[in-house]
Amino acid sequence: MNQIPQDTIDQIRDSSEILDVVSDYVELRRRGRNYFGLCPFHPEKTPSFSVAPDKQIYHCFGCGAGGNAISFLMEYEKISFIDSLKTLSERYGVELNLNRDEGSDKFFSQLYEVHNQAVSFFKNNLESVGGKKILEYLKSRGLDSNTIESFDIGYAGDGWDHLLSVIRAKKISQDVIEKCGLFTKTDKGVFDRFRNRLMFPITNRGDRVVGFGGRDMSGQNDAKYLNSPETPIYNKREILYGLSRTLSESRDKRTFIVVEGYMDFLQLYQNGIKNVVATSGTALTSAQVSQLRKFADTVYVCYDGDLAGRKATVAAGYSLMRGGLNAKIVIVPEGIDPDSWVKESGVNDFKQGQKEATDLITFHFENTLLDTTDPTQKSRLANEIATELATINDDIIRRELIRQVAQKLSVDEMAIIRIIESKGRRIKKKQVVNLKNDSSPSSFSKAEEEIVKLLISSNVEVIELLKENVDTTVFSDPVMKALAEYLMRSDSSNGDTNVSGAVDLFEDKHEREIASRLLLDAVEIEDPYHVAIDCLITMEKQPLKEKIDQERIRLREMEKSGKDTAGTISSVMKLREELSQLEIKRESLLKSLK
Ligand code: GTP
Ligand code: MN
Repeated sequence: MNQIPQDTIDQIRDSSEILDVVSDYVELRRRGRNYFGLCPFHPEKTPSFSVAPDKQIYHCFGCGAGGNAISFLMEYEKISFIDSLKTLSERYGVELNLNRDEGSDKFFSQLYEVHNQAVSFFKNNLESVGGKKILEYLKSRGLDSNTIESFDIGYAGDGWDHLLSVIRAKKISQDVIEKCGLFTKTDKGVFDRFRNRLMFPITNRGDRVVGFGGRDMSGQNDAKYLNSPETPIYNKREILYGLSRTLSESRDKRTFIVVEGYMDFLQLYQNGIKNVVATSGTALTSAQVSQLRKFADTVYVCYDGDLAGRKATVAAGYSLMRGGLNAKIVIVPEGIDPDSWVKESGVNDFKQGQKEATDLITFHFENTLLDTTDPTQKSRLANEIATELATINDDIIRRELIRQVAQKLSVDEMAIIRIIESKGRRIKKKQVVNLKNDSSPSSFSKAEEEIVKLLISSNVEVIELLKENVDTTVFSDPVMKALAEYLMRSDSSNGDTNVSGAVDLFEDKHEREIASRLLLDAVEIEDPYHVAIDCLITMEKQPLKEKIDQERIRLREMEKSGKDTAGTISSVMKLREELSQLEIKRESLLKSLK
């Protein structure tokens, strides 16, 4: 942990976006300044997990979990501090120079470089004389030059090593050549993986090309499509074709349309339907659903109008519901796909189809091969659906689906619930630990907390006042002490204190939780001067009060044993006097404000 320089850690933390990181795992809804969702660290039904984008921290008011982007990944993914830093540094493009991993940055930048080179190479091919027929094919499929250009569609020619020689000339390392997925290695050597194929670049969410889908143009190949394999930069479970181009429109509409194929995507996009993504013909994964959930509430599944498409539709629908999204099904006419539908019938027919989209349960019932008039088959269908519903954690969604299924099968809802329960996938309720062990914080520890809160406020003058007057050595709570010291050290001149950095002070999880709770709870305090002065005086009063208490005890004992108490009484009087001086100091400080 010590081998990473602090400023690198700071830079990674500051470049990370906690909302973005947490949203990968938790569905968040905005409420006021903060976002709320169901806590991923303990089972709950009402959201008490909160993320503060302005402070870049999270805290669960239910179980106490809390921290910043780095600790979130550590705890959620059960990974080390260093691995969390690595993940974030890759995601947010911060250079992380781990001594033992020197070549890694170069490796990744070359992987991206190879893909950019390949895009240009394939595009050049398409524009060359040899690509004329391919370009005509694309036009015949209804794609215009604008679409072809903006999605960087290209062509991989017939040769065995054309791309390879281009890449070799760029001094790309052998390791990168072997791992980028654009070449295949056989005992006879290394060759271009894609030959005589129409090439669709696949981008990650940051719009960088990480792989390709290639459509066979020879008509001789068994595989109509060949895709890049999984590589260090191409995570197949997560990537959706086209997302980088359509996420902003989808966010505005809060909906997505999911199609299967590259051509479906491009045809819809070209026709002005810009909230679309394609799965590239594979099952919709939970990681892809998480991506969609960040931008949308409803997802329209629009797969091919054949048996395979309909089966995949049902599976995708339940995946979406499981991920907390509302799945709607667009029914594509028998035997065609969204691409040909739009091309043949026009985009308005498609739009009408989207308007008439059906719900998942209805679609499932209409497309099952089971005969629901037969009791045994009806029971099998109920079981089939219950298996899906058992994995849906959101109570409201599951209840609604149960209601629909019960109605369709004309059985009691309890019957469905019993089957679901027999599937045994109920999370046992964990006991919620209450972290606040001291139930009545004394005025002193309250003052410590308030001082920390004031130190992260945006009132520069108050912060200066505290920096000049607070003596942290008298703090009794170690967490508040560390926080106050950190905040008093940090530069607050711009009124923008680095709160998420403060969370890193605590290696102890319990302490981190206390800190994040306090920091997240902190709202701008009304009348901050007044509160600051109160706190300062309280802090000063505290040692006096303690002394007075001690003297009182002494006094009582002395009285019991008949000793002379005059000296002690006068020292108590003196302490009392000091206390009232502090009260006067407080009044005059407050007056000086007005
Ligand atoms: P066209 O036939 O050109 O209209 O392409 P399409 O996109 O409509 O293809 P199709 O509906 O047959 O398949 C949908 C998607 O599944 C494609 O876009 C590919 O991503 C994927 N796919 C289809 N065939 C294959 C294959 O043979 N191998 C692999 N890996 N993927 C395939
Ligand atoms: Mn097609």
